[in-house]
Amino acid sequence: MALDVQAVRRQFSVFAGKDAPLYFDSAATAQTPDAVIEAMDEYYRTYCANVHRGMHALTERATLRYEEARKTVGAFINAKYPREIVFTKNCTESINLVARAWGEQNLQAGDTVLLSPLEHHSNIVPWLQLKERRNIAVEWMEMDDAGRLKMESLKKILGKGKVKLVAITGQSNVLGVRPDLQKIIRMAHDAGARTLVDAAQLIAHHPVDVQALGCDFLAFSGHKLYGPTGIGVLYGKRDLLEEMPPFLGGGMMIHEVKTDRFSPGEPPQKFEAGTPPIAQAIGLAAAIEWMKQFPWKDIETYERSLIQKALTLLGKVEGLTILGPKDADAVSCCISFVADGVHPHDLTDILGQQQIALRGGHHCTQPLHERLNVPATTRLSIGMYNTAEELETLKVEMQKALDLLR
Ligand SMILES: Cc1ncc(COP(=O)(O)O)c(C=O)c1O
Repeated sequence: MALDVQAVRRQFSVFAGKDAPLYFDSAATAQTPDAVIEAMDEYYRTYCANVHRGMHALTERATLRYEEARKTVGAFINAKYPREIVFTKNCTESINLVARAWGEQNLQAGDTVLLSPLEHHSNIVPWLQLKERRNIAVEWMEMDDAGRLKMESLKKILGKGKVKLVAITGQSNVLGVRPDLQKIIRMAHDAGARTLVDAAQLIAHHPVDVQALGCDFLAFSGHKLYGPTGIGVLYGKRDLLEEMPPFLGGGMMIHEVKTDRFSPGEPPQKFEAGTPPIAQAIGLAAAIEWMKQFPWKDIETYERSLIQKALTLLGKVEGLTILGPKDADAVSCCISFVADGVHPHDLTDILGQQQIALRGGHHCTQPLHERLNVPATTRLSIGMYNTAEELETLKVEMQKALDLLR
């Protein structure tokens, strides 16, 4: 059955009323359905308490729901064990956790972390920081102008025998392309390297199965998956999480503390120092439960039709160049472009004044923009609540804005 977009929209308060925004910035943060807000509201109104640290009824209920959320997230990405799911603040913190805890323990001077030019700064800077601390090398795969990674370059760099980690995005937040994760992970493992997938963009638009992928780590944020801000997820294979030292120190991550030493607890608590994002974990689980009413096939078919429409409409705007592939089968959920003689900030500013939300800038991907030879782009990104009519309006308003600016 096709996705009923009006039924989807009715579940978001933000889209009620005639002043609803035309929201094309879901790659930055998706809108939140009422079901998620209500789940967090219920926690604060009826069983607000800390988790894992009390005997009373409120804390027991909060703990139960928090641990249920872990199970829901684990099942969503098909983790083998719920304890392979660590709750963090966001995708960025999840990747930093791996760089600090796993990276410092396992990488030495001369070892290589291999990245793609598609990466977000969140999957670049933690490795550059590790480079400063540990004198490791950070190397880059090659890519063509359409954002396709060159497998020969991956093979060549892996062949040098120095790569200890391949850290790769599942979906570009600029070009919308999806690297062939299965193949890259297999090649990395064959070369003895570990793998980390940045699933920040992929997670809301395509089913993720960590066991089928075989990745060692996978990271994402709740707020791009129709969930709340302030919650991220790190999936790590059980044996790796067990071997890793803690990331942050504090309450709840310990086994025992003496005046002169401590011993860490077991994962995942070992990595969840201090009071965790309780309401947010409950909200994230509610987002995942909410999504289950829509089969993946319907979401993907619908979103592909929107991207197809956007590519066609944007292709008709004079003096506008779309970066990356122009084929909806090769682009998922976002399109970035440059308009002759107009800075993205001016364009997004004018559209923003009319409640049309797009994003202008480098989208935290400066190395990618450098590779594409453009300082900044305008990005349109979609969620399952966008409509073809919104895209038509956007095209008209964008043409007007460009005429004004030129
Ligand atoms: C591909 C990718 N990775 C990582 C991130 C970082 O996510 P967060 O800011 O939620 O940590 C983003 C955010 O835009 C992203 O698009």
